[in-house]
Amino acid sequence: MQHFSEDVELSNRLKIPILGLGTSHHGGYSHDAVVYALRECGVRHIDTAKRYGCEEALSKSITESRVPRDELWITTKLWPQDYGYQSAKEACRASCARLGVEYLDLYLMHWPDCGVPARSNRDVRAETWRALEEMCDEGLCRSIGVSNFLIRHLEEMKEDAGVMPHVNQVEFHPFQQPWRLVEFCRSEGVAFGGYCPLAKGQALNHPVIVELAQKYGRNASQVCIRWSIQNGIITIPKSTKPDRILENCQVFGFTLSEEDMQSIGRLHADKKLIHLSYPLWNG
Ligand SMILES: NC(=O)c1ccc[n+]([C@@H]2O[C@H](COP(=O)([O-])OP(=O)(O)OC[C@H]3O[C@@H](n4cnc5c(N)ncnc54)[C@H](OP(=O)(O)O)[C@@H]3O)[C@@H](O)[C@H]2O)c1
Repeated sequence: MQHFSEDVELSNRLKIPILGLGTSHHGGYSHDAVVYALRECGVRHIDTAKRYGCEEALSKSITESRVPRDELWITTKLWPQDYGYQSAKEACRASCARLGVEYLDLYLMHWPDCGVPARSNRDVRAETWRALEEMCDEGLCRSIGVSNFLIRHLEEMKEDAGVMPHVNQVEFHPFQQPWRLVEFCRSEGVAFGGYCPLAKGQALNHPVIVELAQKYGRNASQVCIRWSIQNGIITIPKSTKPDRILENCQVFGFTLSEEDMQSIGRLHADKKLIHLSYPLWNG
């Protein structure tokens, strides 16, 4: 069985596997595929969220895989409806209960927008973050972070927070390369996590990616994932198909040349697949 050999060290010295498996409410959740990922592909990092509605299903898959808890990295996320000091703590404990775990490896604030009437987003974020910091001190969350935060949100956190996020998870793929944000995160000791590494499958037919796949004798998905990894970006491709998950894990046995890294670098089109108008409360 293949085990991943690459980790990213966070500012708290914990090491997160650079490659994880995404889960989501879009496209369904496959119990068999997650068990296969854990048992047969050596996946040790899983990304989920309360919002995806599959924390309980994931608990069943983890149990069936028989992978010991201390070998796994589990990330889940706090949805804005639960922002606030007390509600964040309750939501975290509820996520742990659904996941069947006593602690999380990483707990993320899912969005910077809070939607709390008569309160500024900044105040609500700061109050919520204080709850996450306390849960980190207590060991309920081994690491804490944010998702979809822009530079201005992180600038505010520098003033408001006791500890900067260990991770910022943001959309990152060949058509969406927010390098200024990546560099800012790195300069502040915030590890950069990239989601939608395949651009939800849209990058897989791009001629540059297809040509590189042919050149390296790999498939387009492996080229995209490899490109994220060579950029040092934590990446969490999602698939519900065991054969695709296996392919997506086989990305440590080849290296894209500097020239080919740059060819993909030139595909940036500022194309966001997930928008801040993402429905916070409905749908
Ligand atoms: N923090 C956030 O706000 C946020 C937002 C979005 C996503 N995420 C996280 O990021 C993860 C990944 O994002 P994503 O699922 O939106 O996009 P993605 O990983 O870029 O793409 C997933 C799509 O690609 C297909 N696919 C996967 N492997 C493939 C392969 N080898 N060949 C062909 N097609 C393949 C999947 O279909 P099948 O399932 O049918 O294989 C699915 O339709 C999510 O699961 C979630 O954990 C986080």
